[in-house]
Amino acid sequence: MNFLLLLLLIALPLIALACDIKATLKFNPKVKNGFARFKFFNETYGPVYEYREGENNLPQKFQMKGTFCNMKPTILETYEEDPRMPNITKPFKTTQAFLEGFGDMEYQIGDMNTPYVSSKIGVFCGFGDCGRG
Ligand SMILES: *[C@@H]1O[C@H](CO)[C@@H](O)[C@H](O)[C@H]1NC(C)=O
Ligand SMILES: *[C@@H]1O[C@H](CO)[C@@H](O)[C@H](O)[C@H]1NC(C)=O
Repeated sequence: MNFLLLLLLIALPLIALACDIKATLKFNPKVKNGFARFKFFNETYGPVYEYREGENNLPQKFQMKGTFCNMKPTILETYEEDPRMPNITKPFKTTQAFLEGFGDMEYQIGDMNTPYVSSKIGVFCGFGDCGRG
């Protein structure tokens, strides 16, 4: 077998079993007051973003990086009350997907505070909301 081909066959799965994704979270102008939070594939939570109805809610940028990113889903949750309060246990709405790869991804909070994937480039996505992009 061709050595380069062999090398490629060994390297490809390794490349695919990692992720480095530049993500942006945007807020639709029609959002109601609420809170959004990511639960990453490594089962840790990202920061809580509060957004307000009728205000210019600025896009939030962050990075998701790691290995074996698609062993667990990456989940974007919305809440009507601050999830940092101990009595808030269940998200209002969620979107989840199993992600892998190197690229860019855009999430949005849309009408009725429904989260969704609005675009992705270079990101492999399976079993979930993989977006309209
Ligand atoms: C989990 O993944 C997120 C996104 O890549 C990262 O910001 C965070 O630091 C990670 N947490 C741990 C404990 O590795
Ligand atoms: C949670 O606790 C806060 C502060 O005590 C209260 O204002 C809120 O109504 C509670 N929410 C729920 C869903 O119980």
